[in-house]
Amino acid sequence: MFTQSQSAKILSKNVPNFPQQLLVLGTGWNELLTDANIETEIDYQQLFGVKATVPGHQGKLVIATLNQTRVAAMVGRLHMYEGFSAHQATLPIRVFAEAGVSQLLVTAASGALNPKYKVGDFVILNDLLTLFLAIDSPLRGPQFLDTSQLFDVKMRQILITIAAKTHLSFQQGCYAYYHGPNFETPTDKIALRTLGADVVGMSTVPEVLQARWLGIKVAAVALVTNLAFVKHDHKEVLMESEKAADKMVKLLGKYVKSSAELK
Ligand code: HPA
Repeated sequence: MFTQSQSAKILSKNVPNFPQQLLVLGTGWNELLTDANIETEIDYQQLFGVKATVPGHQGKLVIATLNQTRVAAMVGRLHMYEGFSAHQATLPIRVFAEAGVSQLLVTAASGALNPKYKVGDFVILNDLLTLFLAIDSPLRGPQFLDTSQLFDVKMRQILITIAAKTHLSFQQGCYAYYHGPNFETPTDKIALRTLGADVVGMSTVPEVLQARWLGIKVAAVALVTNLAFVKHDHKEVLMESEKAADKMVKLLGKYVKSSAELK
């Protein structure tokens, strides 16, 4: 894996004027770019010296214009279950922060722990359960981040307004980090639910903590691809994301434009 300064140099050569909005597109969310006007693509091997290894994650940075808004999109991400530390998995966030990103939208697939949630619901995150990442935070040294309000109120409100206006089935809830790659056991799920989480997934938390430490404003949306308490597999996660693709495109297309207008 390259160092931050190596990656930063490669990035500035390829994308001299980096957009202020970054989207992290999780499992299945890459459909978003089918309607976008693509300007540059760089794969993670070239930019970070590593490959994304997960089915459904292409592993490339795309600079594109979507709904008249120029954005950077990470198509696929690095997960800790691929063998990366939390610090390594968040190298892209540090590199893009250095390049000038000021707003981040994180997307992910998730399993619902809250019994009221349904497959296909969009969950606009209002908090994170970080306890199960705590032994390996992306932050190093005395980086005492205030986590009392991780998500930007205005960016969240934009998502809520669009979701309501476009009649998306959506929720607002807390996402718990689970390391994986195995899915949770039934007892793990009961534990996570008892601790206050509404959905569970294997990403998002390292990126959000790292971005907040760097002063980036953050919002996040998880798609419920399965009910955590019902037997499920990765194929089902991919299939449900595909089914929701049109809705994802609508939500994020409108979001990037409104978010760009925020002060
Ligand atoms: N658990 C963990 N990660 C996930 C799940 C799940 O049920 N669904 C999608 N990503």
